[in-house]
Amino acid sequence: MLAVALRVLFLWLSNRRWMARVALGTPFLRRMPLRFVAGTTLDQAVAAVRELNARGRSATLDVLGESTDDRDSADRAATAYVATIERIATEGLDANVSIKLSQMGLDLGVEECLAVMAPIVAAAARHGNFVRIDMESSPTTDRTLEVVSRLRADGHDVGPVIQSYLHRSPADVERLATEHVRTRICKGAYAEPPELAHQEREAVGDAFVALCQRLLEADAYPGIATHDPEMIQRVGAFARRHGIGKDRLEFQMLYGVRRDLQRRLVARGYRVRVYVPFGTEWYPYFMRRLAERPANALFVLRSLVGEHS
Ligand code: FDA
Repeated sequence: MLAVALRVLFLWLSNRRWMARVALGTPFLRRMPLRFVAGTTLDQAVAAVRELNARGRSATLDVLGESTDDRDSADRAATAYVATIERIATEGLDANVSIKLSQMGLDLGVEECLAVMAPIVAAAARHGNFVRIDMESSPTTDRTLEVVSRLRADGHDVGPVIQSYLHRSPADVERLATEHVRTRICKGAYAEPPELAHQEREAVGDAFVALCQRLLEADAYPGIATHDPEMIQRVGAFARRHGIGKDRLEFQMLYGVRRDLQRRLVARGYRVRVYVPFGTEWYPYFMRRLAERPANALFVLRSLVGEHS
């Protein structure tokens, strides 16, 4: 009960810009996200990716930013992503990028968003890299999938994320599986109503496994994004039963979360990709991580107080 209330509270806080301003403007609070965010600069993110690569893990870089309906801000965010893709190439890193379309002006419309995305997908194409499009809350699902499909129709190597809590997801995955689209499956991180999304943990988990199985059958190289050992065990067992090799999927986890599990999977010969967020706009990302696991709030507070005293 308390966990549910805290989850709702943190998700509510994640959308409060005044709270973000307070957190970003307070030196003590600015240190909060260090466990889950690789730093505020590209140099710090590159250092984190180098370390992950040295430990046998791939990465996907997220340049943290606000959703915007201002074209100039969206273009600036796109420029930061182009710089990130260029840097991945020059440093020879095993990494790609993950992008939220709300940051790329999705609220201005699909056409504007495609225009903002153009330099990013061009940079990725120049370097033969892949671009992941993150999935946000349900009002954006159709538009996000439309942008992905239009970019793919133009020959770009991009793939979406599908959230297993949404009732619509089996139909979306069916289409993506038929086209062998490289898709990430996650449970879903936003507050969605019962008409649109499963509310019970078991239903979300069963849906997660079923969606991963469909993509594995279709040989669509799914990204299995979870820290839940039960999900990992069930998807791994399905792959083994069907003779699907470890090179036909990857497990994906968030920076700073379940590093023990990341290590164990690499040791067992699985591909593991770590989602590495960086940048000054860490506040909403950090709040969503607290919502997933309210115990993180205690953990972070304890380490801050410890360092402070
Ligand atoms: P679950 O929440 O059931 O937790 C299982 C265990 O994992 C916990 O007991 C705990 O040990 C650990 N754990 C989980 N979250 C933790 C946290 N924040 N801190 C510490 N430990 C934690 N969502 C979305 O809506 N759109 C997206 O595009 C993405 N993208 C994405 C990429 C990647 C690589 C990952 C791993 C996740 C996402 N997500 C996402 C988030 C996802 O939807 C989901 O909210 C979280 O992964 C939490 O669900 P789990 O399946 O990990 O397990």
